[in-house]
Amino acid sequence: MKKRVEIAQLLAQPPVGESVTVSGWVRAFRANRFIALNDGSGMKNIQVVVDYENLEEDILKNINFHSCISVTGQLVASQGSGQNVEILAESIEILGGSNPEEYPLQPKRQTMEFLREKAHLRMRTNTFSAVFRIRHALAFAIHKFYNDRKFYYLHTPIVTGSDAEGAGEMFRVTTLPADNPPKTDDGDINWKEDFFEKATNLTVSGQLQAEIGALALGKVYTFGPTFRAENSNTSRHLAEFWMIEPEVAFNDYEANMDLAEDFSKYLINYVLEHYRDDLEFLDKRIKDLERNMKKEDRREMGLIETLEFVVADDFARITYTEAINLLKNSKPYKKGRFEYQVEWGKDLQAEHERWLVEKKFKKPVIVRDYPKDIKAFYMRLNDDDNTVAAMDVLFPGIGEVIGGSQREERLDVLKKRMADMDIPEEELWWYLDLRKFGGAPHSGFGLGFERMILFVTGMANIRDVVPFPRTPGSAEF
Ligand code: 4AD
Ligand code: MG
Repeated sequence: MKKRVEIAQLLAQPPVGESVTVSGWVRAFRANRFIALNDGSGMKNIQVVVDYENLEEDILKNINFHSCISVTGQLVASQGSGQNVEILAESIEILGGSNPEEYPLQPKRQTMEFLREKAHLRMRTNTFSAVFRIRHALAFAIHKFYNDRKFYYLHTPIVTGSDAEGAGEMFRVTTLPADNPPKTDDGDINWKEDFFEKATNLTVSGQLQAEIGALALGKVYTFGPTFRAENSNTSRHLAEFWMIEPEVAFNDYEANMDLAEDFSKYLINYVLEHYRDDLEFLDKRIKDLERNMKKEDRREMGLIETLEFVVADDFARITYTEAINLLKNSKPYKKGRFEYQVEWGKDLQAEHERWLVEKKFKKPVIVRDYPKDIKAFYMRLNDDDNTVAAMDVLFPGIGEVIGGSQREERLDVLKKRMADMDIPEEELWWYLDLRKFGGAPHSGFGLGFERMILFVTGMANIRDVVPFPRTPGSAEF
């Protein structure tokens, strides 16, 4: 094979006049003459001009939507508008033909639901390749953000023996036979005979182990897959999603909120700066989709405008109690339009979060000091004895993207909270040890990776920002 050059590189520094070879998938073939070719290296296609009279019949017949071809020809300044350079094809090799009658995708706009069923092919579309390039960009930016600030990346276990966090229903990990598991005398499953000699699950969060890291290395973060078996069939929930959990010794909850805000803005800025082409495509895609919508259904701002707006201004910061008061004075509350109750002591639902963010403050909002009864045992009890030093960061169009807290470092207070919540001390003996021996105030949070990607790409459903979504009833690919 001739040495190929990647299309992104070719377009960045076009060697006009030279002979070049590019390989990629056909995004469009107009008038039997103009091929839009893309190899995934960037949003922009290269235009290939073919003189079809000189092409053999069976080559021409194989240049179809998403066929894979390799083209050699001279790179010239383009005659047409829409591109600066194009390749005058001298030879075309079909690397992988594609029969248009059988190929599941058509060169037209497809529904997201349909494309989800074709997750092995959807990445070849403009929309999904842009989304997955941005997913990569965010992953890279996350490591860069923490590395630049001297955090250590800590790998916490995926298989866990503790079910204490209570963040969600867990998936069991076992090698016991499903049809006839060994039983104890009481008739329960005998987990002592299982692989780990105890009951184990897939983790819902790496936080408790990250705390171990923070109390030794000072500043750590995790970035790994987490699993929740809730039957939440929403556009914001996955059964398998990725979470980033920084944990910092000596940070109080103010510093924790500052870190969450800086981190969020850094990620958005990184994509604005380095992935402009992809963002512009996604921005235009949304505007095209909204063209036929009623005005009130359209977004108030375009995608890029929203991202720039969010990084330009401070996030709002309010207490949970203030949030409840604002909600009780809101129009939808007074008109009975909220589906869920607004009541001090009840958790905020997505509809409440979105009203705060989209109607009241019109920017991200950090809500803090939640009632202790609706939050996890490890969150630090405030002096009022009623609320904890928790914080959630809420984003426009999505709701909660980050959840975190200052952790309870006082052994007696922690033990009391665990007892109140029926969490056995034996299960978390090591967690309690951290408070007994060299404990320190510390704080952290978890950012839902896919929810941040949703925000940055403007996609509507979380299943469309993860390559292979795992949701109730669905684990194909
Ligand atoms: O608020 P959560 O449950 O917090 C924790 O797990 C803490 N241990 C984090 C910490 O303090 N270190 O989850 C954190 C974030 C949520 O804000 C949300 O963005 C995301 O994870 N998340 C989900 N994303 C997709 N699908 C789901 N089922 C999710 N559940 C939570
Ligand atoms: Mg939460």
